[in-house]
Amino acid sequence: MAKTAPKTPFPTRVDLSADIRMAMGVLLNQRLADFLDLERQAKHAHWNVKGIHFEQLHELFDDVAALAVKWSDDLAERAVQLGCVAEGSVQTVAERSKLPACPMNVETPTQWVIVVADALAACANAAREDIDTADDAGDAITADLLTRITGEADKQLWFVEAHLEKQS
Ligand SMILES: [Fe+2]
Repeated sequence: MAKTAPKTPFPTRVDLSADIRMAMGVLLNQRLADFLDLERQAKHAHWNVKGIHFEQLHELFDDVAALAVKWSDDLAERAVQLGCVAEGSVQTVAERSKLPACPMNVETPTQWVIVVADALAACANAAREDIDTADDAGDAITADLLTRITGEADKQLWFVEAHLEKQS
């Protein structure tokens, strides 16, 4: 078995060219790696956060993790619809994610909020950039998916950032 995904997409009746489908597969898999990393980082924060606002942050970070799973599923399934392989293994995600490294020595709830906000923002801002790329390539469905995910991620980012007294 090959360790890397095929360089050309599988045949499908979707009437976008193989080149467009492959380009969208690469884009979707990059975003998939980011959002799967977000899920892990949000769970890590959910488990380890402490302090007077524990309950609220514990729940909020779990909400972010659950949504990150949903967003990842939608990105992965779009890649497969286009004839590409959804590359969701932990090994691939670790190599490919563009998120800031998740710290292990977080001491305050505010630092946890910043960790999750930074990870969410990295995911949402990269997805936002890819909306135009998908549109320009002629794949309105992928552009629409990225638009929806970015909108929902921006909303979660608001919920997280609202726990910071000063925006940082
Ligand atoms: Fe839990």
